[in-house]
Amino acid sequence: MSRPKSAHRCGSCGSVTARWAGRCPTCEEWNTLAEVPLEAAVAAPVLRPVPGAGLEAGPCRLGDVDLAAAAPHPTGIEELDRVLGGGLVPGSVTLLGGEPGVGKSTLLLQVLRSVSSGGEPVLLVSAEESPRQVRLRAERLGPLPESLLVMDSTDVSAVAGAVADSGARLVVVDSIQAVRDPAISGAAGSVSQVRACAEVLVQLAKSGDVPVVVVGHVTKDGSLAGPRLLEHVVDTVLTVEGDRHHALRTVRAVKHRFGATGELGLFTMSDAGLAAVTDPYRLLLGDRRPGEPGSTVLPAIEGQRALLVEVQALVADPAGPAVPARRSAQGLDTGRLALLLAVLDKRSDLGLARTDVYTSVVGGIRVAEPAADLAVVLAVASAARGLPLPADLVAFGEVGLGGEVRQVPHAPRRLAEAARLGFRYALVPGTCPDGPPGMKLLRVGEVAQAVAVLSA
Ligand code: TYD
Ligand code: MG
Repeated sequence: MSRPKSAHRCGSCGSVTARWAGRCPTCEEWNTLAEVPLEAAVAAPVLRPVPGAGLEAGPCRLGDVDLAAAAPHPTGIEELDRVLGGGLVPGSVTLLGGEPGVGKSTLLLQVLRSVSSGGEPVLLVSAEESPRQVRLRAERLGPLPESLLVMDSTDVSAVAGAVADSGARLVVVDSIQAVRDPAISGAAGSVSQVRACAEVLVQLAKSGDVPVVVVGHVTKDGSLAGPRLLEHVVDTVLTVEGDRHHALRTVRAVKHRFGATGELGLFTMSDAGLAAVTDPYRLLLGDRRPGEPGSTVLPAIEGQRALLVEVQALVADPAGPAVPARRSAQGLDTGRLALLLAVLDKRSDLGLARTDVYTSVVGGIRVAEPAADLAVVLAVASAARGLPLPADLVAFGEVGLGGEVRQVPHAPRRLAEAARLGFRYALVPGTCPDGPPGMKLLRVGEVAQAVAVLSA
């Protein structure tokens, strides 16, 4: 039998398979497998040691690894430093992803200003905006620091020289999709270019021991445009999210080699850039109308912090008998909503199978945790019955397919935050431990019991 002379490499994740397929078996991206000569496919992938891990010199005792080398340097933007667990680590590469217009360039300009305010040179490689545009934007944020350098270039190979010449202690590349490596063919933003540029920047960060932050635009479905490979190559992936109709912007780490992920930074977009949110409840609960049907308050957990958010629901008759029922979930997962409605339909007499159901988390925040289930179910039931829930009630718990209400993590933290803000009742899973004094728990084992609270 003759041996194969070629293999197929995924342009997105870089994995290699013998046979061609429409979809990469590793990363499940479509149409990314391309035929490559076998020798090229089996060439060992370049593994990069984590900065400060001490792996370059061969094995060493774990206890001897120098931790000081990986110490984060604060950016001075407190909300961001909290997300990063202290700041940016020299030698590391951070990817800042987000939809166009969400505030990535603004946030990074603030970081550059803050870091350079002490006189340290910092470099912004602006591949999308002209230096004039950058200056205009920067002036909105305050006086220009002397040591903030800007470079208008789309050539990634020119960056290394500029960093060496300027002695920059922080490099920002805005954006990875707009820079090119002239040694590689292909347009800026193509799979091969993004990969090549990312590798150049990783080397630059490591050899110069500077933190490099690269901007990456995300596509509509929320994944980073360009290859997923980028997410593997960098040390930290931050995402900026926000609804363009709301001022609230959230920053969280979805990957972080130097600390925990899930921590949430809260900002509002103002006339002078992104401002830290010190009182989130003015934004999140400020416009709440207690006593209206279809509203519940959920103590959500974002990173280390409990955050109370309002969950709203509206139930309406469909446009006509032949029109399929509409379901909308803003700030919640659509699939999860469909599941909860199916459970609710089966376990209660609300008859939701043929009605339109709209749900939303107020304030432009996104809640992904299953602990939101009970609050969603309760808001929908309250809307369907036209009966309001007590104004001082919060609800959390996961709902299973059998209609059972399941325990969720961090119950004490959720209850403490609710009590701090004056809530006195909490609808919780049956096994939930007692809350702080003054907080009365209504333990429920299944959805039907939760819905019955409405008529109690
Ligand atoms: P920008 O940082 O350019 O977004 P991105 O880099 O993610 O594409 O943010 C652009 C939006 O922010 C734009 O609509 C203008 C607005 N903005 C403010 O409201 N206040 C400000 O001080 C600045 C600099 C921008
Ligand atoms: Mg931008």
